[in-house]
Amino acid sequence: MNKLILDNLNYKITEETPVWLMRQAGRYMKEYHIVKNKFNSFMEMCKNSDAVTEITLQPIKKFDFDAAIIFSDILLILDAIDIKVEFIPGKGPVIENLESLKTIKLLSRELNSDKVKPCYKAIKNIKKELTDKPLIGFSAAPWTLATYYIEGNITKDLSRIKSFSYKNSKEMNFIIDLFSDLISQHLINQIEAGVDLIQIFDTHSYQMDFYMHHNYSTRQVKKIAKTVREKYPNIPIIYYSKNFQFLDKEANNYLNCLSLNSNISLKEQKEYFEGNICLQGNLDPYLLVEGGEYMIKEIKKILSEMKDNFFIFNLGHGILPQTPVENVFKLVETVKSFKRKV
Ligand code: CP3
Repeated sequence: MNKLILDNLNYKITEETPVWLMRQAGRYMKEYHIVKNKFNSFMEMCKNSDAVTEITLQPIKKFDFDAAIIFSDILLILDAIDIKVEFIPGKGPVIENLESLKTIKLLSRELNSDKVKPCYKAIKNIKKELTDKPLIGFSAAPWTLATYYIEGNITKDLSRIKSFSYKNSKEMNFIIDLFSDLISQHLINQIEAGVDLIQIFDTHSYQMDFYMHHNYSTRQVKKIAKTVREKYPNIPIIYYSKNFQFLDKEANNYLNCLSLNSNISLKEQKEYFEGNICLQGNLDPYLLVEGGEYMIKEIKKILSEMKDNFFIFNLGHGILPQTPVENVFKLVETVKSFKRKV
């Protein structure tokens, strides 16, 4: 078993820096389009365990990343409580929320198993095939999931969810608690199916005021991590955010790793956490599109800044669809050829 990622998550520095990329399976790969073209919708594909298995393994076979991430989407949870989710080309996800927003209290408290089982079945299949590398499971954090649910079609400044939360704090608390429970369930189910670590995506956590952030983000992530760890004390947890301004200095009590967007300095976070937590990130995805000497220089800078910390190389956000595959090969080669002192 390649243990590079698990070692760093368990606070062990390795000679080689591990690497995987958010959205490593996806539109920049021609192999992905071949599978996708067989389906009428993206959501339908996420519920086909054979397609999920195949797509998850495509980037591992091609680029030899140090971990696979189960191919799915954070919005599967909304679909699994029977809220209609559609991916409209050029528009992104659109969620049908008008009726359910009127009857929030009637939202299902359980994941519809027909919708989530294919994901768990794919995890089992992948674990049989991928015996030498870890598999990552994931979910959104409650605030990020709520942004899609409440906004329907997301606004740039998240004005709808912010207005909703200020005006309807009772309902907002209800939604956040419900989503926390569903997320914990989904993560536990993925662990039971066989994933080796989990990542919680709080992509939209950067636009809240201080108190909102405390209530809807930090407190919830802590709660989810505790619920998961009560059952599975040793499961490593990575938390992705674009905001570390309000993050708890004791985060390493419930998380193993913080995954940083490119707008945050890894070096400053390393100093802030006094080297007590693993970090992941944070090359700008646009530099991976650009390639060439600019990309290599920045990759080396990140690697040198983090050479004495537990660290997993990644992007600051997901791979962009226009990314040339040659640049991905070059990134992996550059990371792998950098050696750290152990
Ligand atoms: O990382 C991986 O390879 C695993 C797969 C994965 C997808 N989505 C596949 C996907 C993961 C981890 C996600 C997480 C996700 N989904 C997040 C959190 C991380 C992030 O990127 O911020 C968010 C916010 C979503 C919601 C979402 N899903 C959006 C906004 C979109 C459309 C816009 C876009 O970036 O493509 C999706 C669709 C989606 N999810 C695609 C893929 C490969 C593209 C579907 C397609 O058109 O082929």
